[in-house]
Amino acid sequence: MDVLLTEKQRLWRKQVAAFARQHVDPEIEAMEQGQFPRTLLTEMGRQGFLGIPIPVAFQGLGADFTTYILAIHELSKVSATIGVIVSVHTSVVTMPILAFGTTEQKASYVPLLATGQKLGAFCLTEPIAGSDASSIQLRAERVDDHYVLNGTKIFITSGGEAELYLVFAVTDPASTKKNISAFIVEKDTPGFTIGRDEKKMGLHGSKTVTLHFDGVCIPREQLLGAEGEGFRIAMSSLNAGRIGIAAQSLGIAEAALTEAVTYLKQYPAGLETTIRLGDLAANWEAAKLLVYQAASYKEANRPVTKEASMAKLFASKTAVEISTEAIHLLGMDGYTNRYHAERYFRDAKICEIYEGTSEIQRLVICKQLI
Ligand code: CAA
Repeated sequence: MDVLLTEKQRLWRKQVAAFARQHVDPEIEAMEQGQFPRTLLTEMGRQGFLGIPIPVAFQGLGADFTTYILAIHELSKVSATIGVIVSVHTSVVTMPILAFGTTEQKASYVPLLATGQKLGAFCLTEPIAGSDASSIQLRAERVDDHYVLNGTKIFITSGGEAELYLVFAVTDPASTKKNISAFIVEKDTPGFTIGRDEKKMGLHGSKTVTLHFDGVCIPREQLLGAEGEGFRIAMSSLNAGRIGIAAQSLGIAEAALTEAVTYLKQYPAGLETTIRLGDLAANWEAAKLLVYQAASYKEANRPVTKEASMAKLFASKTAVEISTEAIHLLGMDGYTNRYHAERYFRDAKICEIYEGTSEIQRLVICKQLI
């Protein structure tokens, strides 16, 4: 690990780990009971964790992308719930507003997001458009100086808790892909309501909800980028998002591996069982290299689509593999909540699903290769 990091980044890792021990760890039980970590996020915002790669001019920490990914990795070792909230807020809400926003949009929203005074949510998925993102149907109709939004989004991370929503909608039903546009929608806009709150297998502290848009009227100034540019904004945002989810996977995998190693030191098992750790540790190292390689490509502004998908594909598979094996290695203890292994197992699975399933990552990699 250390060869990939600068001295400053190594210090930062210690700082994040200390924060996670002091502030995140005590909240795990409440989050497991389904409580959204609002107070913790306020503290994280105050300490800069919600604006790590955002320039100082916009009240972020002004750090590089690797430093940001390192924080998601470290935080996710303690809580994957916190990992995903930070990743979605930063990679697929704040960063796209910074990249594609007008001077006014950036000034109005980025400082509030970077300091955690507003939390962000990314709204792409719909009941009939999950993997096939270009099939979304939520309609944004232009009426004079406004757009009127009608439709439904599902499985929205931080939905209901977030104050700011990056919403993808169809502006020109006659064409495909170039018909999608991105909008910034504030929570208190009339016609915008929160629907079903999903009960999930893992990530109990994070919210995953349905959103309804019934004649939501927003000024034209809330369009992000040009009309028709939404699909490109969504896809390029997801490149950064996928590296974040890969880092979250890496954190879960590392925590599960560490717990298994600690357990086997205390309760030694036979050689046949113990040597399984060899494969797990080697796969974790390989995942780490892919994640930090993708982060370095992003940081250097190199094309990162293939690298981001490879990192997410392999790191999420590794998280599922290691957390599954950790339960097996701990035996009956692993199946109870005396240990964290069962939580890691429940939290790992979603990493193979959200921000593009593993099948979608394979498709993206193939498209880049051929
Ligand atoms: N980065 C940049 N550009 C990309 C891109 C990427 N990752 N993927 C596609 N594009 C561009 C293509 O280059 C192409 O551009 P041109 O038209 O200029 O050539 C354009 O987008 C269309 O690309 P495709 O023809 O490949 O589009 P497609 O419809 O065949 O397939 C897909 C696209 C990759 C399958 C896409 O639909 C996809 O990524 N689906 C998965 C959706 C997803 O990840 N959803 C996540 C929901 S959000 C979430 O989960 C957040 C959360 O809560 C945690």
